[in-house]
Amino acid sequence: MPNHARSHKRGQPFVLLVTTVMALLLASAPMSVPALAEWQHNNKINSLEYKQQFGYWEVLDLPEEFKLNTIHAAALPTGKILLVAGSGNNRDNFNAYHNDNQIKVLKTLLLDPSTMETKLIETPADFFCAGHALMHSGNLIIAGGTSGYEVLEENVKKPAGGMSIYNENPDSSERTFKKGTEFVSPTGKVYVSTEDVILPPAHKIDRGNGDVTIHRGETKVFVEAVGEDDSYLTTKLEQYSLKGLEGTDQQNIYGQGGPMTREKQDFRGDDFTYEFDPIKEQYVRVGNLKESRWYATLPVLTSGDVLAVSGLDNIGEITTTTERYDPDKKTWEWGPDRPLPTYPALFRTANPDVLFFSGSSAGYGPEDVGRKPGFWNVVTNSFTPVEGLRDTAILETSGSVVLPPTKGSNDGSQSNRVMLVGGGGIGESPLVTDRTDIIDLNAKNPHYTPGPDLPDPLRYINLTVTPWDEVFANGGSKQYRAKNNSYSFKSFSINPTTNSLTPMADEPVGRNYHSGSLLLKDGRILVFGGDPLYNDKDNTTPGKFEQRIEIFTPPQFFRGEKPQIHSHQSEGAIKAKRGSEVKLHIHDKPESVRYARLIPPSSTTHVTNIEQRSVGAIVKTDKYGNVTVTLPKDENVLPNGWYMLFIVNDQDIPSDAVMVEIAR
Ligand code: CU
Repeated sequence: MPNHARSHKRGQPFVLLVTTVMALLLASAPMSVPALAEWQHNNKINSLEYKQQFGYWEVLDLPEEFKLNTIHAAALPTGKILLVAGSGNNRDNFNAYHNDNQIKVLKTLLLDPSTMETKLIETPADFFCAGHALMHSGNLIIAGGTSGYEVLEENVKKPAGGMSIYNENPDSSERTFKKGTEFVSPTGKVYVSTEDVILPPAHKIDRGNGDVTIHRGETKVFVEAVGEDDSYLTTKLEQYSLKGLEGTDQQNIYGQGGPMTREKQDFRGDDFTYEFDPIKEQYVRVGNLKESRWYATLPVLTSGDVLAVSGLDNIGEITTTTERYDPDKKTWEWGPDRPLPTYPALFRTANPDVLFFSGSSAGYGPEDVGRKPGFWNVVTNSFTPVEGLRDTAILETSGSVVLPPTKGSNDGSQSNRVMLVGGGGIGESPLVTDRTDIIDLNAKNPHYTPGPDLPDPLRYINLTVTPWDEVFANGGSKQYRAKNNSYSFKSFSINPTTNSLTPMADEPVGRNYHSGSLLLKDGRILVFGGDPLYNDKDNTTPGKFEQRIEIFTPPQFFRGEKPQIHSHQSEGAIKAKRGSEVKLHIHDKPESVRYARLIPPSSTTHVTNIEQRSVGAIVKTDKYGNVTVTLPKDENVLPNGWYMLFIVNDQDIPSDAVMVEIAR
């Protein structure tokens, strides 16, 4: 059942505050200096004058049962926002789900920002650190997630490691090996598996003329020794037998594992895949990934196929495999091998076979492999690096965004420029940068050139593409996971046409790792998440996940009325073809309409949103209020799928978006 959450109406906090202060004054208690300063500050940020210049932040007050550790979020074609935690980087939740099958600890919340209605969605798997993408159908695909939490070296008791399992027999059937399957080393030491795995049979390749080769069936699993003593440690790769096998299976099925160590155990990926249906508002299971993935990026190609790239596999190692999802068959097939760090920022280009890797990533991967930005042809699997990027050792948890068209342009021109913003050194490195660099992907020889410096060196900045051709930036911290409370509360708007930054209102809540932002259908910006390592300045108490959600209303919304746009078609989305005209109607002041932008609903995690981009359309109005929007013809500019169509006026105020579905 939907429940109503309470939101602060504009102006309401101000009124409440004044009442409180009046009561204090009437009680004739002298006001302390900090209380007075706070009162003055609140007065200032709640004044219309201030809002008109800097905008306004509101912190949503959701009831306790709807609070969650939001790590993934998606704007849906319905205008609602899906907030996903899975086990939410919480080991107790992980254990409750994986050991005791308590599905309730896994959380997904659906929020309607226009009514503030909230609804908990049944979450069938641990989506924590999955990859996801808004597909052309409007469904959100979620692939992979968590099968094991990190264990630091000091907490590892039992020797453990990765185990490959092989099947040499092409005539056997697929076999499931349950969690707890025992593997016996040549010296009789027993190790048990930590999850269920499926082992395919071997397969025969008949090349004719009696030339038959057999490829053994293969899977892998993480195993732990049954005992804790040193006799279970081994540095060797050895052959293991599986307990409980019978008949020919004993000859054909075996393990190959090692070394078995007490080293730090990384998070481990999973292989389930679901599609979230925004109409039925439920998850639907589809074909598994071929490789387990944790921290994978899922770029949607112009064709509508989805790639899964990078991630830690089910034994906690970074994978170089990729795979491709067919949205009609709902299954994955292997793609080209490509070593990239986890959550790589990959963007579509004018060539449907080529993705651009900006250099941004989040989390894991060797320091010297796959870190260079460049163009990746996913058909030929060639990679062409690009030059000019500065601070190349400070790219982790940087932000990357496709910049919007030239400010206010109404000529149908597009931007294919990518901006890379801030970032930190690898892992817990103290390195951090205020660099922004920009590359035009459509240039003859694309290379990065310097953009405007940030106000401070920062990692984890949230970047949101807006319909008024600027990029809204908020959050971030100077240090790894906001150590020493090194938050930035500044927010600002980047105008890529003038390469200038304009300060916006300070954000009430600090944001860092596991945070993100999304553009709402009404042009406001929703911000979620944050996962500091510590709570205090001196790094002595463990951090608390930031569950508060905020909505930012941009300053120009306080300076004038929104264009009131209506569709000629009744309720629901407009279906349109590329190159066609969309007919709308404006209620008032048709002469104020200046430009139109199409921005897809998108998904984001770990300050990585590769789907948001602003497409320019040509808008014409007449004195009767008829509004005609001409859509771009080029499929690489406007691929199939869902878009929020904003009509923007002469004060940069966008209408509420009309949902448009582009189809062949
Ligand atoms: Cu994470």
